[in-house]
This record gives sequence, C-alpha cells and structure tokens, in this order.
Amino acid sequence: MASTFETVGVVGLGTMGAGIAEVFARAGIAVVGVETDPGALERGRGHLEGSTGRALSRGRLTEAERAEILGRVAFTTSLEDLSDCDLVIEAIPEVMDFKRALFTDLDRVCKPSAVLATNTSSLSVTAIAATTTRPGRVVGMHFFNPAPVMRLVEVVRTVSTEDGLAEEVAGLARRLGKTPVTVADRAGFVVNRLLLPYLNHAAALLEQGLSTRDDIDTAMRLGAGLPMGPFALLDLIGLDTSYEICEALFRESRERRHAPAPVLREFVTAGLLGRKSGRGFHGEEPPANPSSEEKPSASTVAVVGGTAANGTGAADGAAEAFAERLSAAGFKTTAVEDADLVVAVSRTPVIEQAVRLPHPARLVGLNLVGDQVAEVASTVLTSPGAAQVARGLLRILGRTAVSCRDRAGFVVGALLHPHLNDAVRMYESGYASMEDIDTAMRLGCGYPAGPFEMLDRLGLETVRDGLRALYAEYRDPSFAPAPLLDQLVTAGVRSIRDLSS
Ligand code: CAA
Repeated sequence: MASTFETVGVVGLGTMGAGIAEVFARAGIAVVGVETDPGALERGRGHLEGSTGRALSRGRLTEAERAEILGRVAFTTSLEDLSDCDLVIEAIPEVMDFKRALFTDLDRVCKPSAVLATNTSSLSVTAIAATTTRPGRVVGMHFFNPAPVMRLVEVVRTVSTEDGLAEEVAGLARRLGKTPVTVADRAGFVVNRLLLPYLNHAAALLEQGLSTRDDIDTAMRLGAGLPMGPFALLDLIGLDTSYEICEALFRESRERRHAPAPVLREFVTAGLLGRKSGRGFHGEEPPANPSSEEKPSASTVAVVGGTAANGTGAADGAAEAFAERLSAAGFKTTAVEDADLVVAVSRTPVIEQAVRLPHPARLVGLNLVGDQVAEVASTVLTSPGAAQVARGLLRILGRTAVSCRDRAGFVVGALLHPHLNDAVRMYESGYASMEDIDTAMRLGCGYPAGPFEMLDRLGLETVRDGLRALYAEYRDPSFAPAPLLDQLVTAGVRSIRDLSS
C-alpha cells in the first residue's frame, strides 16, 4: 500500500530538526514538531521563525507565505500527539541509546502504518529499526545542514526494509524539492563517510602545526573551490556531532583516519561546539589586525624550480613563469647566492633544496593552486622573516598566501587527495555509483564538482602521485592510492568516469 505522507512528525527541533520541519511545511505538509520541554520547544520555534524571517527579508517569501508555513507546524512536548502522523522523523542528538529509547516509544504511539525515519548521520539504522515491532517500516532519511538549502536527502534502507518503501520515501524527498540518493546501511552513508574523515584530517593537521586554522580554511575554499573551509564547516555541523560521527565511522572501520582528532574531544569537553554554542574553531575572537600584514622588503628574489627529487635547482617552466611575473611586478630577480629571498617552485621536501643553498634560511617552497592561492612552505631552516616577505610578495602578485610547513602535499593536496582517494575506495567497494557519489557531494555539501569530476579535472596521475608522496611521508595506509586509481594510471586511462558509462 503506497503511503501518502500528509502529516509528518519531527522529533527534536534543534538546527536540523527545525530545518527539516521547515522543509516539510514549505512543501504544504502538516508538521507536528516535538521537543522534550517547553524551553527547547521555544528554541525550536525560534529556529523556524528565524529561518523563514531571513527568507522574508531577502524577498524569498511573502508575509502571507511565511504565515502559512509557520501555521502548518504544530508544536508540542507530547509524543502522543504523533499518533496520526504518516511519517515521523527523529532528529535528536547522535547517541544510540537516546535513539533506541525514542524509537521504542514511537513504535508504541504511532499508528501501525506509519513510517519511522531517522535523520542519523552515521549510526546504524538497522540497530535503531530493531528496537521496534516494525523494522520493515523504518528507514534513514538524512538531510544536510542547512536543511532548507541543501538539496540532497540520503534515503537509507536496511536489510529489513519492506520492498518499495525506500522508493516511496525517495518520492517524498522529490516532493520536497530534494534529490534523493538511496543507499544501504553503512556508517556515515555516502556523504559523512567521505566528508568527516576529511574534516577530521584537517583537525589533525592543525594539531600537528601544518598550518593555521584560517590558512587551512582559505586553502580549501579558494584553492580547492569548496564552499566553506573545514573548520567553518565543522563549526556549522557541530563539533559534538562531528566527534560522534567519527566515532561511529571508527567503530565500523577501525581505520586510523576515522579516529576523532584529540582536538575535537578537547573542544567538545570544553563545551565549544561550534555555531550552536557561539564558539568552536571560530568565534568570539578579536578580528585580525590588517595593519600587521607583512610588507615585502626583499630587494632581490631568486626563483628556482625542479623537483626536490632531481634537486638541481635549475629553473623549470613553472619557476620561469613565476620569475617573469615577479619581474613584471617590479621585483628584481637575481642569482641564488645574491638573493634576499629564494623561492623554490617545487614539490616537497623543500628542505632537500634548502640544504644545498649558501643561505638556507632565505628559502621558501611555493606551490601555486588554481588562480588565487599560493602555498608557502617554510622548512625548519627558513627564517620567519623570509616567510613573511614571501607572503607579502604573493599578495602583490594577487595571490592569497597560505603558509604551511614543509610536508607532502602542502595543505590542499594533503587534504584533497586522500578525500578523493576515499571516494574511489567507496566506489570500488560497490557501496555507491560514481554518479551517486558525485551527486551526493555536490548537493549535500555544495561542492562545485563531485569527487570523480574533481579527479578527472586534476588528472588521475597527479592525484595518484600526490597520494604516493603522502604515503611515503606519513606511512598511513589510507593514503596509499586505491588500487583502481593506480591501475587506471598504469593503463593510461584519463577519465575515471569513463568506467561508469
Ligand atoms: N537556514 C536557512 N537558509 C539558509 C541558512 C540557514 N541556516 N544559511 C543560509 N541560508 C540560505 C540563505 O538565506 C541564502 O538563500 P537565498 O539565496 O535564497 O537568499 C542561501 O542559503 C545562501 O546563503 P548565503 O548567501 O548567506 O551564504 P553562502 O552563499 O555562503 O551559502 C551555505 C551558505 C549554503 C551554507 C554554503 O556555504 C554551503 O553550501 N556550505 C556547505 C554546507 C555543507 O557542507 N553542509 C553539509 C554539512 S554535513 C551535514 O549536514 C550532514 C550531517 O549529518 C552532519
């Protein structure tokens, strides 16, 4: 029997629950919103009023439309009010014991035909379904933050889900104006299984002192083209939720890459949860003083190229092009011995070039990323002054400088290449198609291109080589190129997406 889904319950009206309630109400569906106590209920109402109020002020909604949307949502603290709902979505904190207790109650109060859905980000839908007498009518319906904006819904079916139910729920997602991607029940599904390891990796690299919070955010936004930097996104998702997702991934995979970075636990324990608590990686800090921005005072610059492996220091194409740009901008270029600043347009380890120079303190490594970013790597011998001068010089050349240590991949490669490798591994495991993975990351996280589209654009060999360098440096098995990626490069295949056509 096809479900009609005319009245929908949402349990938990935090950021996600309130957003989900708004999505249903906007689609003309009656919503019963449930919270545990009157205070939480008022905060939930506030989320909805705030979000629709913003749409009103931007001219996206009229006053009448807003009133209609808000009028469709009934607020209550009683689960019993869900008895007539055709579908109930749970959006409470990411703790299995809470979810299992709630589903036992929902099973009791909801009519037998009702579908029970969880918005869990990573926990087992199967385990949640097993607490009910209707596991066949339990699915995952996973929205993305901000729910009114992000177009993806992951529909998660378990081995117990009734035939046809996932398709019905996917149809409902389409009715909401969303694009569904239906997957089986694995921790993190598609998006969080790919996104959180990358965000966690960024937190680990920050702890290791690879670069600063702001430079890493800038690198991934302007260099990799993502809509937000990893720390801004961790704050949006919530550090507690992010921590719990990593835990769930780790419990299933036992992969080091999924173990939450210690800094996440520290922040969560301190109550610094991100946007919802007012402060996480960002927030409540004095703005940077622009007058302290570095001014280049180097009178002479030398540019060297060549890979560190051949280590010749002979100028190659990229170095020559960069030297020309410097000259055009009025900088005096000179021989290495005479230069105040030496810029090595090369791969890491930059230190291998530094030790061959008469003044290694004057050398920085440079990696140009896209049109906007330049990564500036300091070695253990680089003087702070030289690094500062390099930043200023790049600013004059119209590039945003990202400072980092002399480590494989600089910042963008270190974070992006393993992220893309994870997508290849996911595809190789048979969990999801390339199209679904690309759709999920574009519509769930606002990526300008999905991971497979990015792989093709960057070049399979470039990414494979980047991964090899990372693996050689860190010896982390998750950085080893996915066998499929290696094989495609060996076979001379240029587009990984050719496999799916
Ligand atoms: N609620 C409602 N609407 C919102 C909103 C919110 N919290 N935040 C932004 N919007 C709306 C704005 O009103 C605006 O709408 P209009 O164009 O109609 O005016 C639109 O979104 C764009 O907003 P802004 O112009 O203010 O900001 P932006 O262009 O920088 O976009 C963003 C903001 C949509 C959040 C964008 O930065 C983005 O896509 N970021 C990536 C977010 C992401 O990755 N989310 C997934 C996280 S993972 C997850 O949620 C799953 C999980 O289980 C943890």
